[in-house]
Amino acid sequence: MCGIVGYLGNKNAVPVLMQGLKQLEYRGYDSSGIGIIHRKKLKIVKEKGKLDQLERKLSNNLSAQAGIAHTRWATHGGVTTENAHPHVGPGGKVIIVHNGIIDNYSTLKENLKKEGRVFLSDTDSEVVAHLVEKYIDLGPEQAVSKALSFLNGTYGLLFLFRDHPQLIIAARNGSPLVIGIGKDEMFVASDAMAFAGYTQNAIFVDDGEMVVLSQNEYRIINRQNNVIDKNIEELTIESGRHSKENYAHYLLKEIHEQPESVFRAMGRGGRLLPDFGTSLLGGLNMEKRDFFDIRKIHILAMGTALYAGELGKFILESLTRIPVEVSDASELCGTNPIVEKNTLFIALSQSGETRDTIGAIQEIQQKGGRVLGIVNSVGSTVARMTEGGVYIHAGSEISVASTKAFSNQVTILSLLALMIGRTRDISLSRGKELVEELKNLPGKIQSILDREDEIKIMAKRLKGHSSVLYLGRGINHAIAKESALKLKEISYIHAEAYSAGSLKHGPLALICEEMPSVFICTSGDYQEKTVSNIQEVKARGGKVLVISNYADDNLKALADEIFIVPQSDELLSPLLTVVPCQLLAYYTALALGRDIDQPRNLAKSVTVE
Ligand code: G6P
Repeated sequence: MCGIVGYLGNKNAVPVLMQGLKQLEYRGYDSSGIGIIHRKKLKIVKEKGKLDQLERKLSNNLSAQAGIAHTRWATHGGVTTENAHPHVGPGGKVIIVHNGIIDNYSTLKENLKKEGRVFLSDTDSEVVAHLVEKYIDLGPEQAVSKALSFLNGTYGLLFLFRDHPQLIIAARNGSPLVIGIGKDEMFVASDAMAFAGYTQNAIFVDDGEMVVLSQNEYRIINRQNNVIDKNIEELTIESGRHSKENYAHYLLKEIHEQPESVFRAMGRGGRLLPDFGTSLLGGLNMEKRDFFDIRKIHILAMGTALYAGELGKFILESLTRIPVEVSDASELCGTNPIVEKNTLFIALSQSGETRDTIGAIQEIQQKGGRVLGIVNSVGSTVARMTEGGVYIHAGSEISVASTKAFSNQVTILSLLALMIGRTRDISLSRGKELVEELKNLPGKIQSILDREDEIKIMAKRLKGHSSVLYLGRGINHAIAKESALKLKEISYIHAEAYSAGSLKHGPLALICEEMPSVFICTSGDYQEKTVSNIQEVKARGGKVLVISNYADDNLKALADEIFIVPQSDELLSPLLTVVPCQLLAYYTALALGRDIDQPRNLAKSVTVE
């Protein structure tokens, strides 16, 4: 979703900002723009579409020592050049870029219009430029402060002033913002990735803070108008890590990285304690004896992370015997959630910046609940606001559709389940068995990836259809949901997941030759019943693709296509069955010529509600 970046320094700001925008491209956007002070005037260049369209519009000899830039993901107002950022105040004295939503913008806009001010866009953001300019005679800092006092909603905002070319002001409320401190240069962005390669030194800005930046200095001012000190953190952001290497898409690369990323989630083995049949997750800020008090676990997440949470429910309940609830974080906020003393809340988020997840955490925390974060992005908002947690160490995930982060989230939930479970319910021998299974996962995932060509054949079966059903029971139902989401996201084929048991209660009516079904059918408790469901579909002329971990002749005869993953403990089998499903979505989308890494309308990091 929207990315913002600002630069002040000795370098030409234009290429630095363009590089920053490219580093933020993965978040998803539909238009972009850049604003600089050029020959004592504020100059804006913006364009709808991809960044190369903006680049074509920028003349080669454009240079500046300060500038702000933006990638927009439309919320208020269509995808047009006028609605792209930066927006300018009516007198051309200030320009702004904004990430977030100004909830009360229409009232503010009406009032400003009554004063005779003319708006050039349909956005909520433009009111901010007008407000700052209205108060500009107070000086830039006071004008921004005054403007902010009128705003309800979320923002990461950057301001650049015509008459103060050595100054950028930034402000945060609910949308991420980080300062990058270089040598004789300053950066400010919604994501530290924007200044990767320039500096590793960063300060994370918190809600209610305003930042005043010049080339060599920064001042951070809190809500009470006091200048505050904050720690400078050294981040490990590598430059140039955005490389597809030899892969056609980031998505394919990230699917292939899973053996290594799952291994990293296990701390390269260091998070496993084979002798004790358990795991060790530092950072939870909980003693083992605290686990005895947990009466309930409540997981909150969105999108793919939500389905990782649903799988986590099975694993946690099975190993800890503690009831687990999983909530769509966006729904939780509006429902006055029940927060009880002995409930452990877990927020799952790849980016750590998902607005809905952050909103749910805030609501739970203000009711006194304890929330742990399971997060990929180091230093992100969720990582900083939770009482403890675990980094999943998936590495940067660039493709909008999440794959390796999903596997790492499930791996961490499995380690957590093992750690809590061993203090409560499961024996040393069962613990040892699971540690062994976990250790074997990377190799098994690799063996699936080595058979990728088989999936290409399966994908041919799906590409001509407009709708697909994904079916599974128990733990495989959660995989069916995640796999349907993956197909939907990147191929734009409608895909729906049901528990195989609910097939007869409605979806069976859809079965015909034009509606293929993908069954996740693994050996164990649900095997026989799932095979019966496959038979029901076949009896009605439906085509069936099966992802399984066993192959008997009956199943092979029933399936139109079958892919068999290696055997594993049933609880960990989703980490294997998900891989062919990810590849199936990828190759179907590829055959349809889709924009796989940046699917239409979607954003990697959803920073608005
Ligand atoms: C968006 C992304 C998904 C992601 C979801 C949750 O919808 O497109 O890939 O699963 O947000 O994101 P999070 O960063 O909180 O895991």
